[in-house]
Amino acid sequence: MGRTYNVIPVAPADYRRRAEQRLPRFLFDYIDGGANAEITLAANTSGFRDIVLRQRVMRDVSNIDTSTVLSGEQAAMPVILAPVGMAGMMARRGETQAVRAANATGVPFTLSTVGICDLVEVKNAASKPFWFQLYMMRDREVVKDLLARAESVGCTTLAFTVDLAVTGLRHRDLRNGALSQSVRAKAVKAWEIARHPHWLLDVAVQGKPHGFGNLSDRVPDPTRLEAFTAWVASQFDTSVTWKDIEWLRSVWKGRLLIKGVLEPDDARAAVEAGADGVIVSNHGGRQLDGVASSISKLPGVVAAIGDRAEVYMDGGVRSGVDVFKAVALGAQGVLIGRPWVWALAAGGERAVTDMLAVMRQELRIAMALSGVNRIDEIGRDAIDTAAPFA
Ligand code: FNR
Repeated sequence: MGRTYNVIPVAPADYRRRAEQRLPRFLFDYIDGGANAEITLAANTSGFRDIVLRQRVMRDVSNIDTSTVLSGEQAAMPVILAPVGMAGMMARRGETQAVRAANATGVPFTLSTVGICDLVEVKNAASKPFWFQLYMMRDREVVKDLLARAESVGCTTLAFTVDLAVTGLRHRDLRNGALSQSVRAKAVKAWEIARHPHWLLDVAVQGKPHGFGNLSDRVPDPTRLEAFTAWVASQFDTSVTWKDIEWLRSVWKGRLLIKGVLEPDDARAAVEAGADGVIVSNHGGRQLDGVASSISKLPGVVAAIGDRAEVYMDGGVRSGVDVFKAVALGAQGVLIGRPWVWALAAGGERAVTDMLAVMRQELRIAMALSGVNRIDEIGRDAIDTAAPFA
């Protein structure tokens, strides 16, 4: 164990370090990693670092208000917890802990199709409506059934993910033997589990059942990553086109956001197919390695559809200042993926709540020092395009 530099985790990077200590390596890497050489994963965060802000002074900033409207609902700040599959393997009944933290903060939580806790369990933990994320499955009856369940527990917004026609190749999963059933791979996994007694007790023993809640009657043995990947390959529908969005639109009466759009043309097609908005995303650098950072693609999508649909983004948001930058470039709000899962693994609901509180405080301070009081006052002029070192 190395020297402990900080006793109180503050930023996502602090929670990440703790998550790394607490989780078996194959689970930590499943969250942390990206596709192939992780070029896009790195670009997502460096894209934010490259944006330079303008400091504004002598404005009355005595009434800072971070609240906003996200997909028609009031929220404490323009942040949403992104759908993350298998979050319930990172902490006991992880999705229920996360939804409570989101509710306490006043931001939406999104339940993944492949969450460990199902829609009903999350609803029972939640005090407010949450969002549901869907992958298109070959069997449309399964899809209809999931949507009916989502509606019956009060989900108002559906994020339909379109950037996973096939699953990206994540080298870390391969290196860890996470996708293999060989004797060696099994031994490595068993050793990693034995080395992490806290996780073993909290999740492996007390956090059961470990199935994919929403699909528990369909996935063969969901606790094994390789079984999951095989199931995804066989069931996720690679033939999906915009026509299917029109079908989805006719089945789902709530709000519909298309997640995983980077190109302006695709954003226009999404709106034409009936979506209420899009989420500019490259799946956190986990799919096509080599595509641009999400934040660099945001302005193009905003220019294409921003006047008639909502535009959200995710990928690389690691602070309240990043939230500010995305809003300045036209995002209605941002989704955070790894940060909430690192916090969840590091310290459960409390840690997620604490991390969100720091993010909100950072946003508040960024607003004050940029001279704005309200979210809708954050605009392009907050960005310093003429900065000498930009
Ligand atoms: C994801 N993401 C994801 N997206 C989705 O639509 N359904 C899912 O089940 C998952 N599962 C998933 C698992 C893990 C471990 C990660 C890290 C991500 C993508 C996620 O919603 C989001 O787009 C990215 O995580 C955003 O990037 P950051 O915030 O992690 O940099």
